[in-house]
Amino acid sequence: MTALEKVGSPPTRLEGTALHDWDYLVQEDRAHRLIYTDPAIFEAEMTRIFGGTWTYLAHESEIPKPNDFITRRMGLRPLIIVRDAERRLRALYNRCTHRGTTLCRWDKGNTKSFQCPYHGWNFLNSGKLRGVPWPEGYAGDMHDPKFNLAQVPRVESYRGFIFGTLSMDALPLPGHLGPIAEIIDQWLDRNPGGKVVVCEANRFRYKGNWKLAYDNSCDGYHVAYSHRSLLETENRFAGENAKGMAYYRNSPDAQPMYMRYTGHGNHFKDKRPNLEQRPGGLWALESAHPGMEHYEAEFIKRYGHRAFALLDLAGSEPININIFPNLSLLGNHIQVFEPVRVDETNAIWYGTMIVDEDGSLGDDAVTDINALRMRTQEGFPNFGEVDDIANFEQIQRGLMAVEDEWVYMNRGFGIPGRVKTLEDGTITAPATDEAFMREHFKEWKRLMKARANFAIQREP
Ligand code: FES
Ligand SMILES: [Fe+2]
Repeated sequence: MTALEKVGSPPTRLEGTALHDWDYLVQEDRAHRLIYTDPAIFEAEMTRIFGGTWTYLAHESEIPKPNDFITRRMGLRPLIIVRDAERRLRALYNRCTHRGTTLCRWDKGNTKSFQCPYHGWNFLNSGKLRGVPWPEGYAGDMHDPKFNLAQVPRVESYRGFIFGTLSMDALPLPGHLGPIAEIIDQWLDRNPGGKVVVCEANRFRYKGNWKLAYDNSCDGYHVAYSHRSLLETENRFAGENAKGMAYYRNSPDAQPMYMRYTGHGNHFKDKRPNLEQRPGGLWALESAHPGMEHYEAEFIKRYGHRAFALLDLAGSEPININIFPNLSLLGNHIQVFEPVRVDETNAIWYGTMIVDEDGSLGDDAVTDINALRMRTQEGFPNFGEVDDIANFEQIQRGLMAVEDEWVYMNRGFGIPGRVKTLEDGTITAPATDEAFMREHFKEWKRLMKARANFAIQREP
């Protein structure tokens, strides 16, 4: 049993001002520059969007053992994500209940309790206050639950991905994910056993709003232009065998790839139909990182006819799966967007290793596949992300021109038959359309307008 504390709609400087006209700020085919530049809107987003909907917190493989923890943020709220002694996942506020300082200053570790560095209050990893120095100095009952750490009341994991929300109105996580859960399954299940372990990360910080990254996460329109030097590098020696994202070069909308919006701000861009369906079909597309020919030759020598199927497990999966507001699965990576300020964001790329759950691959093969997966980190995550980040920073600069107010997202809008709603309610469009952005902004607006029904909880 835990005590729930209702928290009202958090007041922001926006209350009662004209900025509340969300329908004006986000229209069907355009968004106002203020939603990317106004600190008051950013402040409102940090409660109404981050934590107002299911927000990605961490991956279970980062805290595999009882008493493991990792520190993260939900919006600007500092959290400690723990697997407690009973293996229960919790998201504790990383804020001492005494005077509010950051309780845990480590990035990760394993501990049954956290001791505050300021005055030494000690908390169990269940969030319960265990003891305070010289308790005779307190007249009142220090067992009052108000002194136990605040925690996120709803923490759920979907196949290893841990999400949290403060909203008591949000659907249970599987219902919230809806049709995109199946796409996450496909991303995981291309490896036997369907399990990944998250590795350390490439960490980028850019001077731009967090939404610029999410707006780009399903954008198939920019690739041929923004990533031209990467495409040229990847294909310089490729001859007929087009590498990387070469399918974007000529008429991308004529390719079988597509984008799909699945609800609640989530969408994916599926480039898998562009591949040849054969063992090695995915690997054939992998761009040639230095030294990879040697690895490929070695795989063929070691694994014979199995080599190409194994190499496919190392190849970067050609799909972008975007879970609003802060998570993307793409290639072999997990990307997380962490807002810092209205005009500053962390974009973090975690590599992933596969796990040989049922022993069908064999230890040697798994080690070799995972070594090669790390090499794919040297492709897009290093040489593509910098192109995107340059765009985000330049947009943020452009949006400082106050009189020119609108950002357009009208590609594919108003052309009969181009954007289709399927029977299951998902929306599909050609790969370069901005339908995904128009749709995720409807969800953004819904959350910004919603009367918040938020709660935190504490151990009793
Ligand atoms: S602020 Fe943590 S013990 Fe005082
Ligand atoms: Fe890009």
